[in-house]
Amino acid sequence: VPSATRATELDAMRRAVGLAERGLGRTSPNPVVGAVVLASDGTVVGEGFHAQAGGPHAEVVALADAGRRARGATVVVTLEPCAHTGRTGPCTQALIDADVARVVYAVSDPTAAAAGGAGVLQAAGIEVESGLLAAEAAAVNEAWLHAERTGLPFVTWKYASTLDGRIAAPDGTSRWISGAESRAEVHRLRAQVDAVMVGTGTVLVDDPELTARAADGTPHEHQPLRVVVGSRTIPPTAKVRDESVARTLFVDGEPAEVLRSLHAEGVRSVLLEGGPTLAGALLRAGLVDQVVAYLAPTLLGAGLAAVTTDVATLTDATALTVTDVTTVGGDVRITARTSSARNQEH
Ligand SMILES: NC(=O)c1ccc[n+]([C@@H]2O[C@H](COP(=O)([O-])OP(=O)(O)OC[C@H]3O[C@@H](n4cnc5c(N)ncnc54)[C@H](OP(=O)(O)O)[C@@H]3O)[C@@H](O)[C@H]2O)c1
Repeated sequence: VPSATRATELDAMRRAVGLAERGLGRTSPNPVVGAVVLASDGTVVGEGFHAQAGGPHAEVVALADAGRRARGATVVVTLEPCAHTGRTGPCTQALIDADVARVVYAVSDPTAAAAGGAGVLQAAGIEVESGLLAAEAAAVNEAWLHAERTGLPFVTWKYASTLDGRIAAPDGTSRWISGAESRAEVHRLRAQVDAVMVGTGTVLVDDPELTARAADGTPHEHQPLRVVVGSRTIPPTAKVRDESVARTLFVDGEPAEVLRSLHAEGVRSVLLEGGPTLAGALLRAGLVDQVVAYLAPTLLGAGLAAVTTDVATLTDATALTVTDVTTVGGDVRITARTSSARNQEH
């Protein structure tokens, strides 16, 4: 591939990853996918993304956007085009019908039903290349890829603590440990996942709403399913009982069983929002894949620790690998992987 073409395709793939990201939280049980159509001179003539399960796939949207200009074009797409008929027809056929010359995709489709798209395209005389910007494209689809491999949703445990790791003061007060920017970011995170999860303890103490809202209180377009785990009764006055904006599921059972049943319901990503008891149970069971900690520059010296475990010695500690450190307003956000996520990297 000539270097000018390579540079254009790289730009297009970056754009496609950005388009894919817009579908986060809305496409499950499907992956997020973005696609860009390039004319032979490298100009962008069409683009699209998979906006919701049951809706048209990214390639189909992008081809429709390009219209007749798709003929002889290169289609740059974040995931291998599917070769199967689900709720919509196979993307491979749409590409063949549009008479495109070349398809560049980032990540191979690991699912038995949809895989094999590359071979179908090649058999139809279309030039196919894979692997361009694969890491970035896999990252945006991380939850879906993880769920395909494990049969469990990808779990991100998020908490806000003081610099000394306290998530609530001894008197139980815990609201707004982190700053406004961090809290706004958490609302955006909620809008990108399929479900948020807490234990009954958090609901009974904090009475959180657990919806995804803008700073002025307006609900974001996508609301994750709220999942409350535990046996205690949640009073009818609790905010999670108000289902005018988001749905709530009350479940009792072992974390793995709860996650498996959520997966069966189409949930691919879960934002675990505590509290320390439920987080400890999931961590011990190896069910937490990623940790996002917002550390506020305050010290308490007493109060609840972020996680409750029965660890007795240092060698029993859960070792994490930091993947990102950044400041959010006045707080520090640390993103880290657990070994359960690392072991499943491919
Ligand atoms: N700063 C933060 O980021 C943050 C976030 C969340 C919570 N908090 C604080 O955390 C405190 C609440 O702590 P918490 O530990 O009681 O809350 P929690 O972890 O939300 O709830 C604990 C409950 O989860 C249920 N559960 C379900 N499966 C479990 C399992 N396998 N193992 C253990 N428990 C299981 C149990 O409910 P049943 O007993 O009903 O069966 C248990 O009592 C509050 O003070 C709150 O403010 C802080």
